[in-house]
Amino acid sequence: MAQIIGYVGTSHVPAIGTAIARNLQEQPYWKPFFDGFPKVRDWLGAVRPDVVVVFYNDHGLNFFLDKLPTFAVGAAAEYANADEGWGLPNFGTYRGYPRLSWHIIEQLLQDEFDPVSCQEMLVDHAFSIPLQLLWPEGIGGIRTVPIAINTVQHPLPSARRCLKLGQSVGRAIASWPEKLKVLILGTGGLSHQLDGQRAGFINKPFDLLCLDRLVQDPEALIRYSGAELVELAGTQGVEILNWIAARGALGGDLRQVQRNYHIPISNTAAALLALENHCG
Ligand code: DHB
Ligand code: FE
Repeated sequence: MAQIIGYVGTSHVPAIGTAIARNLQEQPYWKPFFDGFPKVRDWLGAVRPDVVVVFYNDHGLNFFLDKLPTFAVGAAAEYANADEGWGLPNFGTYRGYPRLSWHIIEQLLQDEFDPVSCQEMLVDHAFSIPLQLLWPEGIGGIRTVPIAINTVQHPLPSARRCLKLGQSVGRAIASWPEKLKVLILGTGGLSHQLDGQRAGFINKPFDLLCLDRLVQDPEALIRYSGAELVELAGTQGVEILNWIAARGALGGDLRQVQRNYHIPISNTAAALLALENHCG
């Protein structure tokens, strides 16, 4: 009875949070990026999701290199935002949905995933900034389920595994007995590299290919190994795995609501993709 009403993929660059706090949306540097969002907000205002499932990666706030799960699912009643060191404003607390989280976790175990279940979980900029971009006036009563994927410390989960993770989450939502409208969100990317000799690396042709494939043929993206994704998208560009996982949850006919691509925001090729899902 639950329905996935759509998909949003967006970058989560921390500087976006600072731009929001300082009201810089209309400045020439920021305008081409922020201008992508009103159309998506209008659409969300019309379809009105009850829940957002957020595929993202933690950047050393809730998990650090000493203990870093490949997949972790939040199962808390609420999730507090905190800043792992960017000087960002605090975006507050997000309402959870423990019953739905456990339902998703059970499906994942049935499908032979072994996620870490988190009854306490802090959420960083990769969670808060996308939600702030989609609901600048506040997310209100909309509930959230955070799903964190390790895109930080190698070995990373494969793109194939991430797509399957999303498919399993899609099955969990499809078997939820109550009426519920679910938005699937994937955050991060697209191409960027923050450190090393290739710092500042951006690969526009690969990003545009990824956006096309995400809409029409996400299976085409599972051919890339972790090393190939680093080569093609940069060390942090592997955050595309969050977008791929999120896309796996959608199974219906898709209509593109919005696509925006702008280089650069900070060191990142910033992208936005919104898809409406029509099930059966
Ligand atoms: C930047 C991008 C990210 O995805 C991130 O997590 C941190 C910083 C950047 O481009 O500055
Ligand atoms: Fe990031």
